[in-house]
Amino acid sequence: MSKPERQLHLGLFLFSTGYHPAGWRLPEARVDGAFDPKFLHRVAQKLEEAKFDFFFLGDALASSADMQHQFPSQMVRLEPFTMIANIAAVTEKIGLIVTANTTYAEPYHIARLTASLDYLSGGRTAWNVVTGADTRAALNFSREKHWDNAKRYDYADEFVKIVKELWDSWEDDAFVRDKATGVLVDESKVHAIRHVGDHFSVKGPLNVARPPQGQLPLLSAGTSERSQELGAQFSNAVFTGQILIEPAKEFYAGIKSKLAKYGRNPSELSILPGLVPLVGKTEEEARAKYRELSELLVTDFNLAPLSGRIGIDLTGLPLDGLLPDLSLSTHPGDEARQLVGLAQKASGHDDITIRELFHYFAATARGHLLIVGNPEQIADQMEEWFVEEAADGFNICPPYMPGGLDLFVDLIVPVLQQRGLFRTEYEGSTFREHFGLARPDNQFAKKGALQGS
Ligand SMILES: Cc1cc2nc3c(=O)[nH]c(=O)nc-3n(C[C@H](O)[C@H](O)[C@H](O)COP(=O)(O)O)c2cc1C
Repeated sequence: MSKPERQLHLGLFLFSTGYHPAGWRLPEARVDGAFDPKFLHRVAQKLEEAKFDFFFLGDALASSADMQHQFPSQMVRLEPFTMIANIAAVTEKIGLIVTANTTYAEPYHIARLTASLDYLSGGRTAWNVVTGADTRAALNFSREKHWDNAKRYDYADEFVKIVKELWDSWEDDAFVRDKATGVLVDESKVHAIRHVGDHFSVKGPLNVARPPQGQLPLLSAGTSERSQELGAQFSNAVFTGQILIEPAKEFYAGIKSKLAKYGRNPSELSILPGLVPLVGKTEEEARAKYRELSELLVTDFNLAPLSGRIGIDLTGLPLDGLLPDLSLSTHPGDEARQLVGLAQKASGHDDITIRELFHYFAATARGHLLIVGNPEQIADQMEEWFVEEAADGFNICPPYMPGGLDLFVDLIVPVLQQRGLFRTEYEGSTFREHFGLARPDNQFAKKGALQGS
């Protein structure tokens, strides 16, 4: 079978105890994997066997013990740069995504760390640019409060431009290394960037040679207009949380349409929504696991956020009663019906109770689509989102670990491969190659060549 032009990109968004808040409570789940290098190696190697595009580590700069019932995986975890350096040593092909927050960092540090990781991984590193989802970080970095969106993105825009220049500050052929003449470096090919801007002054050059990929791929994940603009200008992939296909298609088309004004082609940027696959060999097996997880949730059943979500006040109603008439929703169109439809599908019946609706949305607190089903059913939905241009691939968030990942790899990946939707072998060895991205010319060499011509 000839290879279709477009294929899915798949990555793992690591939640070490699983994406489901109660995932760690399953008898078979690993509770302490986040701090066990062997567990993390096994996860990365499993992804590589399945020919995944990447292993993605998110990050936050604050924590508290009260995150335990909603976000247990994000409460404590290893620092991403150190962890990726370790994972790089036990893998060969899988792309590695490190998250670094521009609001609390210096561009020279980040350029240096990312370029170093690109060497250690043989060109497999990419940088997820975030401006910070956790406002509490300010208090850990000698500031009184987290900056507003405009200031964070003004800072991030300048930050990213500097990092990109620093990566190019040594031309690829700057190193002559001529033992006979004693010339180690051609100094005309080393560039001080001399950046002086609103937030930074950075002279350069970087003290790491140009990274193997030339420019590391960039990823971003914000939802605000400014973040989408940053993604359109710089990113090679945008992560997003989408649970309904129509808004996902709008988001997809919206970002892709912004690329032209930056002189970029839509194929240079992939849109990757999160996906929580709760798969079983049969639909009934998957549903049984979903019910088991739902019953393990530790919650006070606060119905206020859920009420806001569907536009109907549920507070004070009995948990085991049926949902009120959805036409009462204050939301436009049939949004409430579609949201409730997701919970009905997951539960396997239409007459769901308020408790069952709560279970579904508690399981997706981070905003990603949870699908319960057999391998074909889940592959069908992935294919639909891909073909309909709601997604170029998915950031897979297994509901529990490591079993949820193993089942995805063992049951769903083969179905996607049989359908020609996903690779059966790696064609390249770098992050760029997995995404079909060319290695960019050095901006200083290019300028020099233009001047020379
Ligand atoms: C799939 C996904 C993953 C994200 N991962 C992180 C993360 O690891 N760290 C973080 O600070 N923000 C993360 N975010 C949040 C955004 O990247 C962004 O920094 C934040 O939402 C603030 O920007 P905004 O106002 O543009 O949304 C993530 C968002 C999504 C959709």
